[in-house]
Amino acid sequence: MTIPDSDFNRAAELREQINLHNYRYYVLDDPQVPDSEYDRLMRELQALEARYPSLITPESPTQRVGGQPLEGFGEVQHQVPMLSLDNAFTDQEMMEFDRRVRERLVATDVVHYVAEPKLDGLAISLRYENGVLVQAATRGDGSQGEDVTQNVRTIPSVPLRLMGDDWPAILEVRGEIYMPLEGFNQLNRQALAKGEKGFANPRNAAAGSLRQLDSRITAQRPLAMYCYGFGEISDGPLAETQSGSIRRLADWGLRVSPEMRVLEGVEGCLAYYSLIGERRATLDYEIDGVVFKVDSLKQQKQLGFVSRAPRWAIAQKFPAQEEMTRLLAIDIQVGRTGALTPVARLEPVTVAGVTVTNATLHNEDEIKRKDIRIGDTVIIRRAGDVIPQIVRTVPDRRPPDALLFQMPDHCPVCDSDVIRDESEAVARCSGGLFCPAQRREAIKHFASRRALDIEGLGDKLVDQLVTQELIKTPADLYRLALPVLEKLDRMGKRSAENLLKALEKSKQTTLGRFLFALGIREVGETTAHSLANHYGSLDALKLADAEALQLVPDVGPIVAEHVVAFFRQSHNLEVIQSLLDAGIHWPPIEIPDAASQTLTGKVFVITGTLSEPREAIKQRLVLRGAKVTGSVSKKTDYLVAGEEAGSKRTKAEALGITILNEAELNALLEQ
Ligand code: IVH
Repeated sequence: MTIPDSDFNRAAELREQINLHNYRYYVLDDPQVPDSEYDRLMRELQALEARYPSLITPESPTQRVGGQPLEGFGEVQHQVPMLSLDNAFTDQEMMEFDRRVRERLVATDVVHYVAEPKLDGLAISLRYENGVLVQAATRGDGSQGEDVTQNVRTIPSVPLRLMGDDWPAILEVRGEIYMPLEGFNQLNRQALAKGEKGFANPRNAAAGSLRQLDSRITAQRPLAMYCYGFGEISDGPLAETQSGSIRRLADWGLRVSPEMRVLEGVEGCLAYYSLIGERRATLDYEIDGVVFKVDSLKQQKQLGFVSRAPRWAIAQKFPAQEEMTRLLAIDIQVGRTGALTPVARLEPVTVAGVTVTNATLHNEDEIKRKDIRIGDTVIIRRAGDVIPQIVRTVPDRRPPDALLFQMPDHCPVCDSDVIRDESEAVARCSGGLFCPAQRREAIKHFASRRALDIEGLGDKLVDQLVTQELIKTPADLYRLALPVLEKLDRMGKRSAENLLKALEKSKQTTLGRFLFALGIREVGETTAHSLANHYGSLDALKLADAEALQLVPDVGPIVAEHVVAFFRQSHNLEVIQSLLDAGIHWPPIEIPDAASQTLTGKVFVITGTLSEPREAIKQRLVLRGAKVTGSVSKKTDYLVAGEEAGSKRTKAEALGITILNEAELNALLEQ
């Protein structure tokens, strides 16, 4: 198929624009356009590439999503070995390093060093040929690594094609792949929510993500890269200095550390070390020290190497992030669903500059597995802003009176029975909303953004209201009056008035939000909205039995049981009634009747840009009994294709699936 010039040129233009936005966002951390604009360009390019597959080049920005899983990684021979670094642990050792450097260089005046934080990730070598990324390899043993090209291609801060045109024909760039702390914490929260173990630290998470045989998994992991060095370069060095060479990498769109500095002599190095040490806690990645390199490449050459490390570079390491302290007690925290979480109370200890007094212990099994006893000396690890963890105990220091931990059989807050389901790792307080701790968490949840969204009702305020017994249930919130609110800590007349306004505003909501706000166990946001759409009214839902509930999308037997149990508790029904009496209301939902179920059993996929949000179209289809899925397969009956529909349309065409435009869809819905 010949591609019209206009489309060919448009694709090139889109690739360039997307690459530029990518660069602004991921490399410079300074986006120029909103995400929606970026998405629009991407969809347009995807649509063009779907129409003309020959337009797809390996370096197209659409090709970062990952490909077919590999059987194993290939081997890569490093032409220029990937070295390691000598370490210095004290200022003294740094001064000795500087002295050795000056002695070897005939010049005795001050040496210039270039400094960067030492990232705690994985070393990687990128190979660009004629400006295009052709290979990415791990360090391995330094001379032979693994080919992880497919995975590295999914990392958005790694350019698939270099910017500019003055790069050498062959350019090997070295750097560190790491996982930013924010992404790491989020990944671990998700893993824990799914009952999985999570990663011990960002380094392991980065390594685990990069060594996936299925690059589609890597594509979903928040990895990033900083470049700090070189392998093979076809036309000799890029500049006269290390720092100058790094700046050229930056010009070509590679991401380099904004913390890089050129320093004078060892005094400069020591000052930089303490500066970065102070800033460490504010960085969004883990570092374990600072790297210093002689800046002049000529001097680097004169200095040469010893075995596996250059004489011209050194890593000055930070003191360990692990410390020893004593476990004084194990307290129990009670969450919204009554889950009891053991929390370690520690003798205060400074770990990498921060005083630690608490650490999470997750659950009873974890305490047993690590054989942690009260009174033990324990090793604490703190990594970035991750909650401190107990790594292990020091058995030699166990006092004879160390106590085994026992999960209480009564709730420490309300004294109700504690139950632990055989199938679960979690022990729970059975007190429900009778338990003040659960009540407090339930009210926080009720007011949260995705629930009733009561602005200004923060955690501290809820704590006060519950502790002073001003409220017991979410319904009590709507009985709060100005004179009471005004007198609370850190509340003035203005904020009290604002809170009352926010409470008033929250009364107008949707059934889905209301159901989510009730905090029924296992009923997350999506399930709450499915229940709302399926039943249309609270009264209908209240009457549903477990069997009927399982007909609702995303509702399985466990969720169904929880819903039934919730509406059987008279206490819950009373709270709901009080909330309704307080004036909480929502717009009615159209309840599908049998006659309107014209599309029962039909499977739809929606793609492309349409005149109304996809979610709205989906709802209209679901109300007619249809099922809406995310990807086109043989089971799909209809593809609703808006403008710029891309690969889904191509696939539907190939499978002979009926494709509907918006007008055709509306006609079908009105039948
Ligand atoms: S330079 C010849 N610079 O530290 C110089 N390494 O202990 C080789 N690392 O394998 C490395 N940040 O994974 C250099 N700014 C930085 C670094 C850095 C982290 C890692 C790298 C290397 C290890 C050596």
